[in-house]
Amino acid sequence: MPKNSDHYYITTPIYYVNAAAHIGHAYTSIAADVMARFQRLCGKQVNFLTGTDEHGQKIARAADAKGVGPQTFVDEISQTFRDLHVALGASITDFIRTTEPRHIIGAQKFWEAAAAAGDIYKKTYEGLYCVGCEQFYIPKDLDAEGRCPIHLKVPELLQEENYFFRLSKYSDALKKHFDENPHFVFPQNRQKEMRQILEDGLEDISISRSVEKLSWGIPVPGDDTQVMYVWFDALTNYVTAIGYGARDDSHDAFTSPWWPADAHVMAKEINRFHALLWPAMLLSAKLALPEQVVAHGWLTVDGQKMSKSLGNVVNPYDVISKYGLDSFRFFLFREMPFGGDGDFSFTKLEARYRADLQNDLGNLLMRTIAMAIKFCDGKVPPTTPGTHEELWHKYSEHMNRWEFQPALEIIWDYVRALNQLIDREKPWTAAKEGRTADVERTLYTILEGLRQIAIAVSPFMPETSQKMLAQLGFDYFDPKFDNLIEWGLLKSGGTLIAESPLFPQLAE
Ligand code: MSP
Repeated sequence: MPKNSDHYYITTPIYYVNAAAHIGHAYTSIAADVMARFQRLCGKQVNFLTGTDEHGQKIARAADAKGVGPQTFVDEISQTFRDLHVALGASITDFIRTTEPRHIIGAQKFWEAAAAAGDIYKKTYEGLYCVGCEQFYIPKDLDAEGRCPIHLKVPELLQEENYFFRLSKYSDALKKHFDENPHFVFPQNRQKEMRQILEDGLEDISISRSVEKLSWGIPVPGDDTQVMYVWFDALTNYVTAIGYGARDDSHDAFTSPWWPADAHVMAKEINRFHALLWPAMLLSAKLALPEQVVAHGWLTVDGQKMSKSLGNVVNPYDVISKYGLDSFRFFLFREMPFGGDGDFSFTKLEARYRADLQNDLGNLLMRTIAMAIKFCDGKVPPTTPGTHEELWHKYSEHMNRWEFQPALEIIWDYVRALNQLIDREKPWTAAKEGRTADVERTLYTILEGLRQIAIAVSPFMPETSQKMLAQLGFDYFDPKFDNLIEWGLLKSGGTLIAESPLFPQLAE
């Protein structure tokens, strides 16, 4: 079954299980969740995959350091990543682990497909390897002190006989793909960066390790002296999760209603693996290339890279317990343009909480419902004509292009405009003067606006969206883009329900 156009397949990286998750991991998974929820809003059936990357030197060493066997070690940390996704409200539909049989079988089949294409050969190799990145470096890519630019550590010298993948063979095909698909990588600067690397030409890469040096990996088919290089193993998760290798037929026969994926989401440091190596592997295995690789920036904390040694690693559970899940999710995309680097700070989060959430949105809902209770017996007043179709189409265009901050700006401009409408129309004065029609018109306009806002914010703030709809009198409301653009779905005569504030006062 080929790709179904009603299907949307989105993935996060599979996270290394060498250490606990922090807000950086949460950032990627929430970004992917926002898009997953938006696509559902637009009527798509969504497969949202995340998981854990459990092989390789880094994990083997972390397990050793803890004095436990690697399987015990990865079982424990993988579970914490699974739990984190629940806590983040990430609407994942699958969670893959690279130690699962479905993955191991599929990764081996993938290897066989690349071998059958003549793309795997053996060679003795000497190179500089950064265990943190699980990657070989060439001297020109190291910093002035010869360190890996990500971990700021001098790589280890490795020498062994490995299998190599003919990455160089795919330089031209990839160039063509980049040229024909100018939005293959988001954002544009990362597309250009990858295109430049292609211009310089790709080199073949080592895709296995000798078992003597590293045994914690997937055995290379037909050679039990070698295990797969962790990246070759890990990248295949995007297809092993949807059944690649599950059936015992020819590799060429693999089709899935989910493949090709619509978006692989990650941060910039692993863009190269997703935008160059993975597509080359797919070409080798004769599979279609993903629609888009989304490589966002890095989240820093108070201007600094998060690191254990700096002691500034922010635990997502701490943020959620203090400010609530939706405030955290909102902040990540309201404050920083998605794609670029962004800085997290409790001070900035708190400022957004007070201004945008408590003051703008929370107050708008609370005072409007209070006025409707006072002036309209707690019922939705008669319908008033209106339309905001154009606005929501703009919102949708931004969402489809990963422009989350402008999409939120559109919503908040509207929230503020409705607050201004109250200040201008002064329904309390109109009520005193007996201008009932004016009161009803103003309140209906705001209440219906709030219904639409509840839908528009739902990808970012799913709980808040439901709370808003409940206060507007809906027992159940399935948010859909169609009922976002249609004006007047809030039925007059419906009962409004005053509840506690959407965003409570913060504990001191
Ligand atoms: N296991 C590989 C990915 C294999 S995918 C086939 C890996 N894992 S990781 O645990 O190191 O996760 C890296 C990813 O976590 C980043 O690409 C990004 O998605 C997310 N982030 C981790 N720290 C982050 C920040 N400080 N800021 C933004 N994203 C961060 O690489």
